[in-house]
Amino acid sequence: MSQSIDWANLPFGYMPTDYNVRCTYRNGKWGEIEVSSSEILNIHMAATCLHYGQEAFEGQKAFRCPDGKIRLFRIDDNAERLQQTCRGIMMPEVPTELFRAMAEKVIRLNERFIPPYESGASLYLRPLLIGTGAQVGVHPAEEYMFLIFVTPVGPYFKGGFATNDYVIIREYDRAAPLGTGRYKVGGNYAASLRANHIAHEAGYSCEFYLDAKEKKYIDECGAANFFGIKDGKYITPKSTSILPSITNRSLQQLALDLGLEVECRQIPEEELETFEEAGACGTAAVISPIRRIDDLESKKSYVISKDGKPGPISTKLYTKLRNIQYGIEPDVHNWVTVLD
Ligand code: PLP
Ligand code: COI
Repeated sequence: MSQSIDWANLPFGYMPTDYNVRCTYRNGKWGEIEVSSSEILNIHMAATCLHYGQEAFEGQKAFRCPDGKIRLFRIDDNAERLQQTCRGIMMPEVPTELFRAMAEKVIRLNERFIPPYESGASLYLRPLLIGTGAQVGVHPAEEYMFLIFVTPVGPYFKGGFATNDYVIIREYDRAAPLGTGRYKVGGNYAASLRANHIAHEAGYSCEFYLDAKEKKYIDECGAANFFGIKDGKYITPKSTSILPSITNRSLQQLALDLGLEVECRQIPEEELETFEEAGACGTAAVISPIRRIDDLESKKSYVISKDGKPGPISTKLYTKLRNIQYGIEPDVHNWVTVLD
């Protein structure tokens, strides 16, 4: 029962909620939205999601705000990113209106699972699109299911807004330069599991990837983008193998609003030692400030936060983003949907 949930100590993990919402694509069109209380999917054993990786997901959060309202962040941008992914792996696009209607519906149906404002936790939405039609040859399916489930979550990285140590893993690539890294497909995460395990075993928060071709430039960090701050600039990697993060895009705008310059370009690994601040950013991570990044192979260690604390600009960006998400500061960029 939600009454007994320890909201302030929630991990970033799965917890059953009351309902999920589903929609089926068949005969070239999307059907009606269905509400389900089952956590189980009954799918064909030859479904393309099981064999050929026709699977994509999204992640977004809904917040219970100090004014008592529920706010949802940049949901149309998630819909658009899923559409890009659909084009990337030959799945039918989920229209933005359908995506939004399902997101709003599943939040309302599970309202009792939205953590209270004071807890710092939020309701994580996990939209999922899978090829359910059977194929044995390598072809896209003709039938698909789109669903959204929700689960209340706490911080993704240890301590929430606190610095952590990261490690560059060179033995594994997450995505190829012209591969699927820019799409949110399950295969990228499968490709990251081993590197992530090595990083955790060695006591790090998460693994960093360099670009797969030259092994020279910073790509991204596990399930988050990277940004560095120096000389009044917000600098973030330009790469075809990273996920276009909606959080990163928001932080770039907020950095501009704060009077910083924004550079989106290749970041050579050695440049890490010049950053005054750095962070991993994403829906789950929000901003996870970086204390140190080690390169195990070259034995180099880049200490970014000398005092082990989040830097002033990261703190400003974090506060600004959270305040917009919680309706504490005006939503001047029109990012937020208010559910009354
Ligand atoms: N990079 C990867 C690989 C991710 O899985 C995520 C999470 O969605 C991000 C970056 C951050 O993206 P966003 O800010 O849109 O959540
Ligand atoms: C997110 O930030 O929403 C993510 O998708 C991270 C995740 C893969 C757990």
